[in-house]
Amino acid sequence: MFTPEIINKFSSINTPFYYYDLAVLEENLSVLQKISRQFGYHIHYALKANANPPILELISKYGFGADCVSGNEIKRALEFNFTADKIVFAGVGKTDREISFAIKNNIQCINCESIVELDVINELARKEERRARVALRINPDLEANTHHYITTGKKDNKFGINLKELDDLGNRLSDYSNIQLIGLHTHIGSQIRDLEVFKHLALRLNEILDGFKRRGIIFSDLNLGGGLGIDYENPEKNAIPEYQNYFKLFHDTLKPFPNQQIHFELGRAIVASCGSLISRVLFVKKGFETEFAIIDAGMTELIRPALYQAYHKIINLTSHGPSCKYDVVGPVCESSDFLGKNVMLPETHRHDLLAILSTGAYAEVMASRYNLRDLAPAVYSRELK
Ligand code: LLP
Repeated sequence: MFTPEIINKFSSINTPFYYYDLAVLEENLSVLQKISRQFGYHIHYALKANANPPILELISKYGFGADCVSGNEIKRALEFNFTADKIVFAGVGKTDREISFAIKNNIQCINCESIVELDVINELARKEERRARVALRINPDLEANTHHYITTGKKDNKFGINLKELDDLGNRLSDYSNIQLIGLHTHIGSQIRDLEVFKHLALRLNEILDGFKRRGIIFSDLNLGGGLGIDYENPEKNAIPEYQNYFKLFHDTLKPFPNQQIHFELGRAIVASCGSLISRVLFVKKGFETEFAIIDAGMTELIRPALYQAYHKIINLTSHGPSCKYDVVGPVCESSDFLGKNVMLPETHRHDLLAILSTGAYAEVMASRYNLRDLAPAVYSRELK
């Protein structure tokens, strides 16, 4: 990824910037396309992970659908050639305007997160004189074994329809004349590396599907959400996520209805590995016990370490040699502004270039202008040719 020529080109670009290697993304996409086709699974890319135009152009070119969580994401997906019949729309707090926008654009499916929302979708679809296609997002009450801020399928999380409500819901479904109920949806969390979690999900869904079947309700679609984690510790070695094991696990465990279409909404697994945050060392400073490498990127460009205590591998692109230990910190006025603690780097100097790896997902999209900092630009590998 970082050849001497590329590093040389980096030195004339103002830092910090997000660097996207589109060849890495293409390789990921072609593996995903091949494996998902073998299983007959439909993939919707979760735009929330990264919605930059060149990235979306490439992903839609591979024929994948889109998973959106706002009206603006739906708009963006349509602009970049994701066809409406492959766009799904989730979100616990959709506005009336967003719901109407989704209905007018005749997207594949609205993933509905509560009974009150079902009432609203039905009403808005009636106004549009349409039948909205809807899937029920179920909260399966499962532990996802990931950071608690990115766990979404436990019963005290705000997401999805509670298992307790399913009975009541089953009785009311016929009330919704402007809704075409096509499926079940679930998404239990993100950065899930323990695949057993997905096995529990599949088993729980089998029970839920059975419950609906007993009431004579058969869904044409089943959407299992996203969440497949990546290897932040060894990103170079394991650049391609465990797609094969992940899909096989569902294939072996899930008992779908005949002809039921199976969907996934992957974000991080697809784009994380193609991105790096490139930053320059401003100062190397002795602390009381630690040595600080103070760099020109911080929590404003990558909030994941501060917010989820997330680990990102950091490498020095300029200096080589024996390692020393650094706290790699940003310039923002907060002690939570760090990119990595106790990071082993070759002896590091002012003006060295550092790369913070695996930042293709949930980095640039979560950037802020705190401290009135400029937003860091994106640089694509094809621009450096
Ligand atoms: N589907 C739904 C309904 C979601 O809420 C999400 C992510 C996805 C799919 C995609 O999940 P993925 O395959 O990317 O794990 N900012 C956090 C991650 C938040 C994920 C939110 N929902 C982070 O930096 O770790």
